[in-house]
Amino acid sequence: MDVPEVAAQVFGDGLDGAERYAELLTRHGVERGLIGPREIDRLWERHILNSAVIAERVPRDATVVDVGSGAGLPGIPLALARPDLEITLVEPMARRVEWLEEVVEDLSLGVSVVRGRAEERTIRKKLGAVDVVTARAVAPLARLAGWCLPLLREGGIMLALKGASARDEVARDAAAVARAGGSTPTVSECGTALLETPTTVVIVERVRAQSKRAG
Ligand SMILES: C[S@@+](CC[C@H](N)C(=O)[O-])C[C@H]1O[C@@H](n2cnc3c(N)ncnc32)[C@H](O)[C@@H]1O
Repeated sequence: MDVPEVAAQVFGDGLDGAERYAELLTRHGVERGLIGPREIDRLWERHILNSAVIAERVPRDATVVDVGSGAGLPGIPLALARPDLEITLVEPMARRVEWLEEVVEDLSLGVSVVRGRAEERTIRKKLGAVDVVTARAVAPLARLAGWCLPLLREGGIMLALKGASARDEVARDAAAVARAGGSTPTVSECGTALLETPTTVVIVERVRAQSKRAG
């Protein structure tokens, strides 16, 4: 598959790693149930670049938890584009955890992989108080806020990669996000100068602890 020209700009020195990741996903992603067969042809634009461009919203040297990493999205492209970040991938399914560990080793990335659910007490204790939590295609915004905001330090941000539903989800779930200790969600586009279809991200800051009524 041809590598889009813009990939060099997005990944810089991480381009070889990104190409290798694309190769691994192309070779094993479908057979291992990580990615649909129709996604292979649009792996770069729709998945790898789409994930990496959220880097523009992540502060330098931040600690990051990627919740529900699955095939490694957005955590692996983010790690390749931004070697300054300290990234942990959280995923409950054993065979996906195995895949993520293999990818991290193959690409020689300094990324940690943890098996578990974001809302588990042990996971919160182990990973809590990070600067940024990312999540892509994991859950509706209200549930995501309940899972992800407790992992953040006060002032930390959740970046939820959403498609066309972003604004509707914000309108529907803003009150639940507030109960979970989040700010008013904002919707932002990442990669506008780079991608034909920029990545839509819902951004929520953790402003305080979860209220007792939040689920
Ligand atoms: C649809 S997949 C998306 C995977 C990847 N983020 C992507 O964009 O391709 C959702 C992933 O979230 C994981 N997941 C579901 N509930 C979770 C939870 N409570 N905590 C962490 N991960 C969860 C699933 O196991 C699955 O790998």
